[in-house]
This record gives sequence, C-alpha cells and structure tokens, in this order.
Amino acid sequence: MLRSGSERVQLLNNYLTKMVIKKISLESPWAAVLVLLCLNLLGVKSQPLVPAIITFGDSTVDVGNNNYLPTVFKADFPPYGRDFKNHQPTGRFCNGKLATDIIAETLGFTNFPPAYLSPQASGKNLLIGANFASAASGYYDNTAILYHAIPLTQQLQYYKEYQSKLANVAGSSKASSILSEALYIVSTGSGDYVQNYYINPYLNKVYTPDQFSSILVSSFSNFVTDLYKLGARRIGVTSLPPLGCLPEAITLFGQGSSGCVARLNSDAQGFNKKINAAVSSLSKNLPKLKIAIFDIYKPLYDLSTAPSKNGFFEARRSCCGTGTVETAVLCNPKSVGTCPNATAYVYWDSVHPSEAANQVIANSLIFAGISLVT
Ligand SMILES: *[C@@H]1O[C@H](CO)[C@@H](O)[C@H](O)[C@H]1NC(C)=O
Repeated sequence: MLRSGSERVQLLNNYLTKMVIKKISLESPWAAVLVLLCLNLLGVKSQPLVPAIITFGDSTVDVGNNNYLPTVFKADFPPYGRDFKNHQPTGRFCNGKLATDIIAETLGFTNFPPAYLSPQASGKNLLIGANFASAASGYYDNTAILYHAIPLTQQLQYYKEYQSKLANVAGSSKASSILSEALYIVSTGSGDYVQNYYINPYLNKVYTPDQFSSILVSSFSNFVTDLYKLGARRIGVTSLPPLGCLPEAITLFGQGSSGCVARLNSDAQGFNKKINAAVSSLSKNLPKLKIAIFDIYKPLYDLSTAPSKNGFFEARRSCCGTGTVETAVLCNPKSVGTCPNATAYVYWDSVHPSEAANQVIANSLIFAGISLVT
C-alpha cells in the first residue's frame, strides 16, 4: 500500500511510542503511564495505542444505546451531559465523561467509539470500535429483559454483526487485525443486585447472595470465552463498585442510617473475589488472552467514605435533585435541588459517579489498562 509522507512519519512515530511504552512498562508500569500522559499533554500526535475500543455492559459505560430503546433507563435529556462536550446530553449517565471515555483519551483517541444503535455507527466511524452497552443490563439476562435493555447475549450478537460491517469497511484482513488488537471493556453487574436481586423475591428467596454471585460470574466466564473465540485478545473487566455506598442504596437499604450499607458492600466484595478468580483461570485456559481487572471498588469506596481527602465535599447526596433516589427519569430538568456545580460531588445522580469522580477512578484504572495494551 502506498502511503503519503506524513502518514509514514505518523506510523513511525506511533511505532516508536509503542516500543518506548512497552520497554518502560516492563520495568515500571507507572512510568509508562506517566510517559503516556506527558505525550498527551505535549500534544504529541501519534495514533492511539490500540486501533479500537469495544465496550459491553451497563449504564457505567453506555454512551447512548438506550436512547433508541423503549426503556425508562435513559439519560438523553438535561441535566445529563451538562458538563460534556457542547453541554449536550448523549445518553451517558453522568454530567460529563465516563471513566472509560477518560481511558480512551489517555490511550490517544480523539473521538469516542459510537453507540452501536446510533446512526453514527456506520462507515469509517466503525474503525475505532463500537459501544454495545445498555443501561440496566447485567450478567443475568433477565435483569436487562425486566427493563427493556439489551441483554449481554444480545450485545454479543450485535458484536458479531459489527464484525461483518467492519470487514465491509476495512477489508477482512485489516478488520481481523483491528479486532485482535482492540481493547475490549466489560463493565456490568451492579444492576443485577440493585435493580434485580435485592428487590426481586424470585431471586432473593431462591438464591443466597453467594449462589447468585456464582451464577453471575459463570455468565461472565462464558461471555469472555465466547468473545475470545470471536477474536478478542485484550479484555479489561471492571469489578463491582461498593454497592452499599451508592446514595440510592443507602436511601433504600440503609434503614435510616447515612453510612454505607455493610451487607451490600460485602456482597460486592464476595462477587469481586470470584470474578478475580475467574479472570486468573481464564488467562490460564485461553493462552493468547490478556485480561485484567479494572478495580473500581477501592477508589470509589475511598471517595465515598473519605471525600474530603480527595478534594470532594459531598458523597452521601448526589448532585441531581435531592440526591437520595434520583436517577434516569427522576433526574430531569425539573428535579428540585440539583447542585449548580458537580465538581465537589462524588455522585452525579444517586447511582452514578460524577465526571470528577470518574477522573479519580480512571487514574487508578489506567495502570491495569497499560498492561493490556503494551
Ligand atoms: C465548578 O467549580 C470548579 C472548581 O471550583 C471550577 O473550576 C469550574 O469552572 C466550575 N464549573 C462551573 C460549570 O461553574
């Protein structure tokens, strides 16, 4: 293939950056992160470290798929997005960027991969990946079905469809190299507890939390195995957040106390132990797989329990509305009490961190991300 001079310089630059980061990260992963951040700050324009980002999961990573679904779990109206580009709501459950948006920027992306159900998900836009996530989805397909969201099994079907669309745009050999070098992100599971298990007697009378987490983690392992068979080689999976510290969970399950609900946090930690074990065994069984846990429990727990240590002042109330139960339709332009500036709030709505908190979370994830992409 003939390339222009500037394209060749760019490719060389990109190659050198990758080699430098790879060498440094063998010696000290943190130094690699630092080099990457400095290159970004200096505006050194090299191509992103991975060709594409492909995302599955729930509202923690949905960038607008639910806008196209008949579900109440939407965020495509103000005040969602008020601190995003052009102050536009996009469907992200946040005032600004998600942690995964910040990771994408750190890896060198200047545009975010499109929501797969949006009209933008076509042609060359597909070259940098796609986002299949759907708010209110979970590892347990019934969680999504209850709320008319996209179950994980259906997200995988869409991904297969994406593969053939990508092959049409890029040609099949380029497409398969994009797919094997892409970073895959899987982020879901909270809804299986908060929107399903804790309020659904058909689940909580039948399964103990320990049994339920085993069901979820086995669904996760099957999902990763399927994804691997379809060509994925670099997968990052988020742990569960401290469920008991989400403002809505404190309101609903805290029995009047304002601290984090210990029972819910211990369920989240039980799940996290199992998913860590599953990740170890997957990486043994699938020889070409790089897989890492993106731990969000610890950074969000620290922010929730000691906000002022991290420069925040409010973690119990979220910014939108009264901050006790508002999310999705309940967080809207008429919600009374919405805070004027979310930067000191850990939570934007009663379930989702603010952009400022997502920045802190992303900082602690980037380390795991670097080990996947170098
Ligand atoms: C919110 O507060 C921060 C910190 O004081 C400030 O930098 C930022 O500009 C404010 N944002 C808005 C939208 O007022």
